[in-house]
Amino acid sequence: MTADKSILTFAVASFLVTLTLAFTPLLGTVHTGDYLTAPNGALLCPLPSEGFSYKPVAGTGPSSWAEISPCCGGSRQSPRNLAVIHGVGKCVEQTTRLHYNSTGQIEGHVFNNGKDPTIHFSSDATAYLFGAPGTHGAYVLYNIHVHFNSLLGRGSEHAISGRFFDGEVHLVHYKAEYGSVQEAVLHPDGLVVVALFLEEVNDNRGNGEIISLIDSLANLKGIGEEHQIPHHVNLAQLLPTSQDYYTYDGSLTTPPCSESVRWIVVRNPVYIHTLELQILTNLESADGGLISDTSNDRPLQTGDTEIQRNFACSHADLTLG
Ligand SMILES: *[C@@H]1O[C@H](CO)[C@@H](O)[C@H](O)[C@H]1NC(C)=O
Repeated sequence: MTADKSILTFAVASFLVTLTLAFTPLLGTVHTGDYLTAPNGALLCPLPSEGFSYKPVAGTGPSSWAEISPCCGGSRQSPRNLAVIHGVGKCVEQTTRLHYNSTGQIEGHVFNNGKDPTIHFSSDATAYLFGAPGTHGAYVLYNIHVHFNSLLGRGSEHAISGRFFDGEVHLVHYKAEYGSVQEAVLHPDGLVVVALFLEEVNDNRGNGEIISLIDSLANLKGIGEEHQIPHHVNLAQLLPTSQDYYTYDGSLTTPPCSESVRWIVVRNPVYIHTLELQILTNLESADGGLISDTSNDRPLQTGDTEIQRNFACSHADLTLG
């Protein structure tokens, strides 16, 4: 190779490198172990992320997750303790109620991956969520999964003023404009997760839709098994009628912990029967035991984004959300 040629090769190569770096955020070609920093400071990391566990052990456990994905060590991590002193803290003005723009029923599949039993929705049966504070446009319902523990009163990921609940259901949505959840986790406004606390009761109070979804997990014995859920999910009944909630900008609670989530944590718990809680605590984990042996809850994080609420607001502390 002549000197001229090698200079040219070098120039072309460095031009390509510059081009690749400059366009990486747009193309979304971020590799595992890499991250992007959004203008608002959010750390964004690509899916998927594997090799993590909930055991309190070095290497795979929650205290090592930042080694698995750098976002897990960020400053906008979830879950949080929603410690809002009454009368203090900013309020969001709710211009619209949180709602799906259709009242139809959608089909789904349940799947136990050994970590967080999940209900997936067929891509041709799309549910669009509107009305999340701080967001614009439609968000597609991607999955519903559950966090729990065998210890009563310790199954939720978030807490309200230090109090945990028996479980926590996450309704995960990605911004329709981004086309996929893989692309959405690379944007600070990529996801909206609605969190519903579960509280065990011995009577028949409760959100029938959430109870049927948990019942549909009852037949899942082994890991990796997948079943079509026996009934269609009734969108009109998925969200609670009482929409008092806490809201903040945070992250996925599992690696890659991408800081792409607008959290909406509903204040009042959904009641479930003791039998539903048993269905959850009997589910098998990926390593032979039960998921509930170690729980599938990430410990509370100390994020630095503001926690807001949409209830008990006076004019004095109302800000536009
Ligand atoms: C719901 O919103 C989506 C996304 O904006 C739109 O494509 C769809 O037509 C809407 N459906 C209804 C029934 O309004």
